Amino acid sequence: MYAHIVGIGAFVPEGIITNADLERMVETNSEWIETRAGIKVRHKASEDEWVSDLAIKASEEALEHAGISPEELDLVICATVTGDTTMPSIASMVQYYIGAKKAGAYDLGAACPGWIYGVTTADAFIRAGMFRNILVIGAETTTKVIDYTDRGTCILFGDGAGAVVVSASNENGGILTSHMGGDGSLGNLLYYPGLRGRTPVTLEPDPKPEYVKMLGNEVFKHAVKAMADSAERVLDAAGYTVDDVKYLIPHQANIRIIEATAKRVKIPMERVLVNIEQYGNTSSATIPLALNEGVKDGRIQKGDLLLGVSFGSGFSWGAMLFRWQ
Ligand code: UT7
Repeated sequence: MYAHIVGIGAFVPEGIITNADLERMVETNSEWIETRAGIKVRHKASEDEWVSDLAIKASEEALEHAGISPEELDLVICATVTGDTTMPSIASMVQYYIGAKKAGAYDLGAACPGWIYGVTTADAFIRAGMFRNILVIGAETTTKVIDYTDRGTCILFGDGAGAVVVSASNENGGILTSHMGGDGSLGNLLYYPGLRGRTPVTLEPDPKPEYVKMLGNEVFKHAVKAMADSAERVLDAAGYTVDDVKYLIPHQANIRIIEATAKRVKIPMERVLVNIEQYGNTSSATIPLALNEGVKDGRIQKGDLLLGVSFGSGFSWGAMLFRWQ
């Protein structure tokens, strides 16, 4: 039994934050943001727009694209670290609102690689013969947990959601190999404690738990190496080389990280899907947002070999090699 991605959808809120808007909030400038991060615009959910709203809209589109009804879903997994509630899960809200009456539902907290982790989990359930149709969502409203007085983080992050339907098939292909890596000893370089939170590693109470904290340039160095290693690992495991890959779909955190990772993996930038300019870093949603664009505008065709790689808080990272159906 193989697990194939059979449908995809995405949604971003209408509201935007431009670099000019950020110039009015913190000591920064548009040119610095564009050259150092590659971002022009990021989307921002309104006060009454939440992760579950974004996740539901992306999921409805993914189901329609897959041509399957919500009642056929066995499981809903939502990768998010900016959920509207701690319980119930965002996945439970999606399950109810899309009408996935027979599905179980839970959230998965793995920060930026969350969508890769979710699809990897779905792949394992399907290969084990446990489920046939699983909805995997990456959805974030990062702008609700960003400190807009901290120029090291506020210029980067945006809101969005992407969702895929992963289904069982006898046909060879689909998800070929995945890798998940982690190093919790570096957890204090990028973290968001949440309202009752404590600081990772030192385990002290955090003085400003409501905001994301990041030592950006430290994260940068680790991100490039970990993503490149992870990419090579899944290629080796499946017996492919990077020349076989049609597109690398990296986590969109910083254009310089994307370029450095591509260089290390030895894939030209023409074969890297990049949309950071218009969305910024949407954490678990970046890869499905980029994948959705590639599929819907026709760059990605049936049979294409695709390589997703991501890195984020934890540190956690991962890669997934898959064939588009
Ligand atoms: O999604 C999870 C993974 N997240 C990431 O991968 C994010 C990784 N990090 C980054 O994207 C980058 O590190 C940043 C964009 C956050 C920062 O870029 P950088 O090139 O690493 O800058 P830096 O932190 O080394 O700072 C260089 C200079 C400093 O000034 P001095 O000390 O050289 O005078 C900073 O104070 O740039 C300054 N700076 C800024 N200047 C204008 C830092 N942020 C800004 C800013 N506007 N927003």
